[in-house]
Amino acid sequence: MKIVVVGKGGAGKTTTSAVLARSLGRRGARVVALDCDTNPNLGLSLGVGDSETERLLTLRDLLDEGEAEHAPTFGDILDRYGADAPDGVRLAAITRIENPEPG
Ligand SMILES: Nc1ncnc2c1ncn2[C@@H]1O[C@H](COP(=O)(O)OP(=O)(O)OP(=O)(O)O)[C@@H](O)[C@H]1O
Ligand SMILES: [Mg+2]
Repeated sequence: MKIVVVGKGGAGKTTTSAVLARSLGRRGARVVALDCDTNPNLGLSLGVGDSETERLLTLRDLLDEGEAEHAPTFGDILDRYGADAPDGVRLAAITRIENPEPG
């Protein structure tokens, strides 16, 4: 299942995304949370902390500027550029996925 949260500025997207992700994680679902916001702060709402949230943003900036190598598969994206959040959620901050694998 894929859930996309969109809406106006300040509508509650980040809060809703974090509650959804952690609630599903607590129920045993394997949850991957992707923060595609221009100012990604989902890490703060998920509870990974300031420095880890900042680290993910820095990694994404390096990728966007061509100063880091893109991961060849989605699993590699999560391994290299992700962070563990509470309740088993795996978080990554991304701009886009190029040449996605089927599924
Ligand atoms: N269900 C809710 N009830 C009351 N307040 C809420 C609710 N959801 C979010 N908020 C509050 O509204 C504010 C904006 O929430 P949030 O940051 O999640 O919105 P956002 O859509 O991600 O904003 P942005 O567009 O800036 O990324 C925060 O102060 C948050 O605590
Ligand atoms: Mg937000």
